[in-house]
Amino acid sequence: MAKTAPAAKPKAGRASALDPLIEKLNSFSADNYWDLGKFLVEKVIPTALKEGVFGEHILKRMSDVPGFKFPYHMLKQCQMFYSYYPDVEKRPLPEIFYFELATKVDETRERDRYEKMAINNKWTISDLQKKIREDELSKREDERTKFGFDLKERNVWSFDVPDPRFGKSGYRGRLPGQIVANALFYYTHPGATVLDPMAGSGTTGDVVGSIQHFSGCICKMYDVEPSDDRVGRANILLTGIPEQSNSIDYVFLDPPADFYPRGDDSDFSPTAAKAETMMKFKTIARESARTLKPGGRISVIVEASTGSFGVIDFPFEMTQVLKELGLSQIGKVYLPRRSEAVKLRSHVEGLKPMASDCRELLTFEKSKI
Ligand SMILES: C[S@@+](CC[C@H](N)C(=O)[O-])C[C@H]1O[C@@H](n2cnc3c(N)ncnc32)[C@H](O)[C@@H]1O
Repeated sequence: MAKTAPAAKPKAGRASALDPLIEKLNSFSADNYWDLGKFLVEKVIPTALKEGVFGEHILKRMSDVPGFKFPYHMLKQCQMFYSYYPDVEKRPLPEIFYFELATKVDETRERDRYEKMAINNKWTISDLQKKIREDELSKREDERTKFGFDLKERNVWSFDVPDPRFGKSGYRGRLPGQIVANALFYYTHPGATVLDPMAGSGTTGDVVGSIQHFSGCICKMYDVEPSDDRVGRANILLTGIPEQSNSIDYVFLDPPADFYPRGDDSDFSPTAAKAETMMKFKTIARESARTLKPGGRISVIVEASTGSFGVIDFPFEMTQVLKELGLSQIGKVYLPRRSEAVKLRSHVEGLKPMASDCRELLTFEKSKI
């Protein structure tokens, strides 16, 4: 028997032909997905269409009605279930198999293939779920290995552990090389000349040197304290970058933690500390922009400083600096930290400062003319 829930109260305002349908929907049992889908497809969506509301929007709108018991994603699943399998009763497998297929497998041909496998191999629903999950995982693995690294499709690049092929294990400040690989993928082109003037443990060189996709690129690395002989010695703040102007396609900047204000001395002045950090950022930005070819790009990893003084928004400040140098911003990616433990900070005069746990990778392009 259908479970009942308190009826949703249609929003105050103009009466709509949808109001009684919303109430009726609330009387469906949460187990009865197919019936609910049929009701949505045959009654609710056509009524909404007559009122000028298209399919997706009506589902979202209904799930926002106070007291309505089905979230949007569940309505969507029910709609898909009925749309793909209006004949579910005549099919050979139990209903739950078709619900699983309708909501987890996008392509009709694939759904048919799984259905056949389930029938032929006498699968339980767990067998089907396991197979779909395994196929999805191996598909993702394939996509990853097509380029030879963990390619991210969204703008949060979070990696649990650094890929051991890139950089030196134990090097303080070493970046997961997957970040560099993604940055090169998105912001460079085959054959690009890449520069890392604060190269640390040589992560950028390792990525360029070991991933086939970047094999045509040239990588130049410098550091104030070179970690191996691929890295030239240069202090970017004092002597600049020993590269010609207009010669580089892409600069990757990963400034050290000691560029940032520390804020733990008793005579700490946020204004002075911000000015000091900004002086360093301006120098590295100016030097990097100088080396870039027209149309070349710079990515910089930068993070807000937080403390009892409040927040200094260095990503914002750095963006201003690069824009003043005539570059335009073309990318912003979030880099959550995964490996470091967060230190709890003491609360001072009512402020409850949180430690920063997310850096940003900002990317800018030099004008093409
Ligand atoms: C965060 S680390 C870079 C880590 C690197 N991405 C990696 O994965 O190994 C920053 C580097 O900047 C270097 N550095 C600091 N000040 C510098 C300066 N003025 N000029 C050049 N390099 C500097 C440090 O020696 C350090 O290796």
